[in-house]
Amino acid sequence: MKHQVCKYEELELERKKAVVVNGKAIVLVKSKNGEVFALRDVCPHKGPCLSLGMIDENCSSSSVGEYIFEKDKEVLRCPWHSWEFDIRTGRSIFNPDKVRVKTYEVNIDNGLVYIEV
Ligand code: FES
Repeated sequence: MKHQVCKYEELELERKKAVVVNGKAIVLVKSKNGEVFALRDVCPHKGPCLSLGMIDENCSSSSVGEYIFEKDKEVLRCPWHSWEFDIRTGRSIFNPDKVRVKTYEVNIDNGLVYIEV
């Protein structure tokens, strides 16, 4: 079922917003290029709200001392122990097949953000 959750402009400053739809805590995240994604607002490790965490570029490495910042791959970092989740897929960076958060479909229409729950 499609729910209107906020105006697109509400995501301009912080680029994230916590909402509750049908009793489900969800965090909306706006990427640098303006796309909006919706993830369950609960860290699968110990349960804090991911909406209290930071959005950042993913940092990868193929060798010791090498840091590659991936500008097109953004993550939402848990505020407690810094597990990182891809904002597009909800998959964790350290174990993407086993540790992830649920994602929801997002539509933007006429400046309003809708999610499918
Ligand atoms: S509670 Fe989120 S990483 Fe530990």
